[in-house]
Amino acid sequence: PVSVPLVTRPLGLWGSLKHARRNLLEIIPEIATRQPIVSGRTGIRWHMVMDPESIRRILKEKVDDYPKSNTTKAILRPAIGDSLFIAEGAHWHWQRRVAAPVFSHRNIAALGPVMTAAAERASARLEAQTGRAADLHHEMVTATFEVISDVTLSGGQAFDRDDMHRAINSYISETAKVSLFDLLGLPDWVPRLNRMFTQRSMGDMKSVADAAIEARRAAPHAGVPDLLDLLLTGQDPKTSRRMNTEELRDNLLTFIVAGHETTALTLAWALYLCAFDAGVQTRARAEARAVLGDRAACAEDLSALPYIRQIVDEALRLYPPAAFLSRTAQKPDRLCGRDVRPGETVMLPIYALHRHHLLWADPDRFDPDRFSDPKAIDRYAYLPFGDGPRVCIGASFAIQEAVIILATLLARFRFTPVPGRAPKPVLILTLRPEGGVWLNVEPAH
Ligand code: HEM
Repeated sequence: PVSVPLVTRPLGLWGSLKHARRNLLEIIPEIATRQPIVSGRTGIRWHMVMDPESIRRILKEKVDDYPKSNTTKAILRPAIGDSLFIAEGAHWHWQRRVAAPVFSHRNIAALGPVMTAAAERASARLEAQTGRAADLHHEMVTATFEVISDVTLSGGQAFDRDDMHRAINSYISETAKVSLFDLLGLPDWVPRLNRMFTQRSMGDMKSVADAAIEARRAAPHAGVPDLLDLLLTGQDPKTSRRMNTEELRDNLLTFIVAGHETTALTLAWALYLCAFDAGVQTRARAEARAVLGDRAACAEDLSALPYIRQIVDEALRLYPPAAFLSRTAQKPDRLCGRDVRPGETVMLPIYALHRHHLLWADPDRFDPDRFSDPKAIDRYAYLPFGDGPRVCIGASFAIQEAVIILATLLARFRFTPVPGRAPKPVLILTLRPEGGVWLNVEPAH
């Protein structure tokens, strides 16, 4: 394995905040030296926690004492309601009980053909771009949006994929601006800015989703049940409660928002890393071709593609799409020998955790073999999907989708870097490649 250029570059900040008093460029080195960090404007203390034991305490043992941060909720609630992602207590529990079976191994495997079809379409788009540079981030966003829209709101006459994509994208980018205030500890600003930035796109999203749900109720969907069918028929085993239209819509929008961009980023960063490491790429291609020949990958191939899976795992380590998790402490506690007081923000800097030299050997090196034995990985040093009861419900969905698309593309195309067009990792809600991921695309053989 070789060290990939630029992976050690510190996180950048979204441009308009470049004059803010604090930014991630300052914060990352500060994690190791000075704790807690006190927001310059509000005086609110926030703690950056990278000790695996303390992370376990926050995400698992004391999960009720560390709910998602107030600002995270303020940012997301206007768009996705009190859905699974931000609900707390009993309201979260019953939704999770309804949603958990929806994401069973069997249901996700049955959705494999949707992912295979998206991989085929992505492949056809790249075929048309061989011999030149393509923006693989853009291509992967298109592919994962096709998947998530086809397994949530498709089939309704009211649904238009492009309309929805426009609304979601504008929501994500507008909300992203606001989310940086969360990092800066400016909670008072958030609701006001949030309303200002996101009102229009939220309205678009909700009306598209409501129309699609109503259309599905009126005309049930034939064939393999998708996430909407499964949620429509889902029932809480404890209270027998079912989701009403508003709850269905909020959760479907949650799946779309939480699911498509994160998976696209995983794929884009994985392709970027492979482009820099011809050895890894050749080995991955050999595995994919041996299993697939000329066909696209499907869900049943997953167990035969361990190296492709390791590349996905390693891309999620080096470029975790959810680069920070944040919580608001409810009770006095001690973490890493320091006092934490109620109301303070506790941040889990996943990006920095995944590159911590005490937790990882040669942490900036791209080396998928780290994951050849998953048991050798310290569970609380690797958290691309979080952990504990609030762990990502879509993790297997995302891994299956990423492996299917990555294997299909690596079997068919060779990717090389475009000089002078290296992406800059920037934290905008998720860890995005500013300027896209531009790679030269050639037929593999
Ligand atoms: C939660 C990451 C894909 C739906 C989370 C969390 C992380 C995460 C870190 C925990 C957040 C926290 O504790 O604050 C990712 C990554 C993905 C991905 C990196 C892709 C590579 C998906 C997909 C779906 C999804 C495909 C749905 C189809 C959700 C939901 C939650 C969640 C609903 C909230 C779960 C709860 O609180 O009960 N995700 N996610 N995610 N994710 Fe994902």
